[in-house]
Amino acid sequence: MASKEELMKKLEEKIRNCKKCPLWQLRTNPVPGDGSYDAKVMFVGEAPGYWEDQQGLPFVGKAGKVLDELLKGIGLNRREVYITNIVKCRPPNNRDPTEEEIKACAPYLDAQIDIIRPRIIVTLGRFSMGYILRKYGFQVEPISKIHGKVFEARTLFGKVYIVPMYHPAVALYRPQLRKELEEDFRKLKDLIEKVV
Ligand code: URA
Ligand code: SF4
Repeated sequence: MASKEELMKKLEEKIRNCKKCPLWQLRTNPVPGDGSYDAKVMFVGEAPGYWEDQQGLPFVGKAGKVLDELLKGIGLNRREVYITNIVKCRPPNNRDPTEEEIKACAPYLDAQIDIIRPRIIVTLGRFSMGYILRKYGFQVEPISKIHGKVFEARTLFGKVYIVPMYHPAVALYRPQLRKELEEDFRKLKDLIEKVV
């Protein structure tokens, strides 16, 4: 059987050549994801922004700085986790991804989950929250109501814990939400200690 490494490299190559939605025309680089293929914790954001598109890496701009700080706050760094987005190419002017773009791109995320087999999936923002909760059969509620809650999903490779959180970008202009993110990361730390 092919190793995780081989499977991921193949998948990343597919993403790099993908033209399944119109976003391919505007990208400088697609952004497949970054981190450990053996990660127990996977973070799923929304879509690449300017710097991510420039570098081909997720969360390397301002929101990424917040994410790095949140990880550091619970003793983690990005090499130990896996970080990706629901949409792999940058939407123009950082607009929200459309339903069509999410539908076209999400199979790559599904494949990444199947290869990495994380114990915990943290969704960042409402787009990845909506996709991941629906994928595992949960009802979607407003993020203000369910952020920080733990949803237990059964998958073919065992139990996966899903934790919706606010998108780190909101912490840049709403200090209260930064506090909530920090609080949710503390809960994540407890969950990691319990289940990983
Ligand atoms: N915002 C996201 O959702 N993802 C990134 O990779 C960067 C910013
Ligand atoms: Fe393909 Fe996703 Fe990029 Fe669209 S956003 S072109 S589906 S990789």
